[in-house]
Amino acid sequence: MKAVVYRKYGGPEVLEFTELPKPQPKENEILVKIIATTVTTADLRMRKADPFMVKFLMGFPNPKKQVLGTEFSGIVEAVGSGVTRFKVNDRVYGPVGFKPGTYLEYRCFSQDSPLSLIPENVSFEEAAAIPFGGMSSLYFLKKGNVGKGTRLLIYGASGCLGTAAIQLAVNMGADVTAVCSGKNEELVKSLGAKAVIDYTKDSLKFYPGVFDVVYDTIGKSPFDESIKALKKGGIYLRAVHMSPGVIFRGIRAGLTSGRKVIGGTASELPEYIDHLSELAAGGKYKAVIDKIYPLSEIREAHKYVDSGHKRGNVVIKI
Ligand SMILES: NC(=O)c1ccc[n+]([C@@H]2O[C@H](COP(=O)([O-])OP(=O)(O)OC[C@H]3O[C@@H](n4cnc5c(N)ncnc54)[C@H](OP(=O)(O)O)[C@@H]3O)[C@@H](O)[C@H]2O)c1
Repeated sequence: MKAVVYRKYGGPEVLEFTELPKPQPKENEILVKIIATTVTTADLRMRKADPFMVKFLMGFPNPKKQVLGTEFSGIVEAVGSGVTRFKVNDRVYGPVGFKPGTYLEYRCFSQDSPLSLIPENVSFEEAAAIPFGGMSSLYFLKKGNVGKGTRLLIYGASGCLGTAAIQLAVNMGADVTAVCSGKNEELVKSLGAKAVIDYTKDSLKFYPGVFDVVYDTIGKSPFDESIKALKKGGIYLRAVHMSPGVIFRGIRAGLTSGRKVIGGTASELPEYIDHLSELAAGGKYKAVIDKIYPLSEIREAHKYVDSGHKRGNVVIKI
């Protein structure tokens, strides 16, 4: 089967086309013919080994796990003898957690992994783009106790996690203010944001004590201004919260400002994918797709995502 591998860390040019043996499902596994996958910021982090500790997951000094791809959609082609949850020809999608590898034609998954049937009204391209942004933002919004009436500021609202977060928060009954550039104002409003702050012209310092929760999806919100934009008792959620300096500032802010800072790694729980499927089936959640590339143009797709300016998701058709 065809696959894309990377044998060293680096830019999009490290991605190479190759042939790998087609896997066979074990007793508890399904074999999925992958129809679509995506290029996520996690793929970029693994490709570049950014931060350095990525090497402890992917291999040292060069990647040992050589196939990228963090989410997929596809068709069940075969099932192991013990599989009861899925059958041949089911349309399925899901995340891959800490076992990346969807830039290929076939992959086996345990029937117990957080997979879901694709709702009838959702295409393979849309389904592939749901898990990474949807599950990550669902995790953080739950950590922030976002619910009816929460005044929520989403920073990086036009990205993958941001476009997911707007829709999820609106479904939770929150009042969403989106931070993005002017060119994305229409997009974030169409997803349900009530107000927009243009980060190229405006500043959070003009919004002191306004929000119950600030959710920074891209790690670019100014730390002190974000804390001050919160009401007393407010929560600052940070999807990118890795450097020791920022973690220290978070602990200090928690002890001195009366606001809480929450980072960490999102869990990919089965109930999250089920919730996203339910919302998508009911027309209440739709992955935003910026561009769709064929697998043959995977390097171009990575280069585009490297720009840091994609809107929502970039999909790859296998
Ligand atoms: N903690 C976890 O478990 C977890 C889980 C998933 C992801 N993450 C992390 O989350 C991060 C974000 O991922 P993503 O996939 O959502 O990013 P993304 O889709 O690549 O974000 C791109 C968007 O960010 C906007 N943007 C760029 N600079 C901005 C700024 N200064 N202010 C406001 N918006 C700005 C861009 O809009 P413009 O073009 O208008 O600038 C663009 O639409 C990644 O670093 C990833 O590693 C963490």
